Amino acid sequence: MSKRIAPSILAADFANLQRDVEMVNSSDADWFHIDIMDGVFVPNISFGMPVLRDIVKHATKTIDTHLMIVDPDRYVKTFADLGCDYLTVHYEACTHLHRTLQLIKSHGMKAGVALNPHTSVHLLTDTIQDIDMVCLMSVNPGFGGQSFIENTYDKVTQLKKIIEAKGAETLIEIDGGVTDKNAKQLIDAGADVLVAGSYVFKSENPTQTIAGLKKIIEK
Ligand code: DX5
Ligand code: ZN
Repeated sequence: MSKRIAPSILAADFANLQRDVEMVNSSDADWFHIDIMDGVFVPNISFGMPVLRDIVKHATKTIDTHLMIVDPDRYVKTFADLGCDYLTVHYEACTHLHRTLQLIKSHGMKAGVALNPHTSVHLLTDTIQDIDMVCLMSVNPGFGGQSFIENTYDKVTQLKKIIEAKGAETLIEIDGGVTDKNAKQLIDAGADVLVAGSYVFKSENPTQTIAGLKKIIEK
């Protein structure tokens, strides 16, 4: 299965958003990763629907939206209407996760579940067949530019075993602190999608940085 790079727009220049979206369009990147933060589930507020609407207007690739918000069911329809392809909710923010997953799928989107660094992958054993993608947070959610938590490699290995044991087709996404230093090891452990924010957008040549990452993960 082909491996994917998803630049995180959180690290883009919001005063030059169209330029940065078009850079991703014409790069080797596969997806757009969109971080929505509510200042309650995480101690930061990112951006909301008007900004997402304008990103979608220009983006030509899969829209992978990561909700770091409490009670995400309230906004599932809104994100579907805005054109999201994947909608990821946090395990820690859902009392009735199974119901939330069905709600996302009933709106025609792929359903993702994100796990904070402290949350065990084993908690997903009973729902894995209903999950299109698990997003393993390799930093504490809320901010870009943090350092990668090394324990993530073990979590990828354990999660991959659960997916295979259940015969599921769930993708594994890694989010936080991804660079050329950890990309290969993550893919070798079983990751399918690597989100990269600061490493891409704070580099001198983001297009080249994306191409470099893509090369590493395709090897
Ligand atoms: C963190 C967000 C990430 C973030 C990644 O809460 O979910 O998607 O943008 O940024 P970097 O790659 O800079 O860690
Ligand atoms: Zn994210």
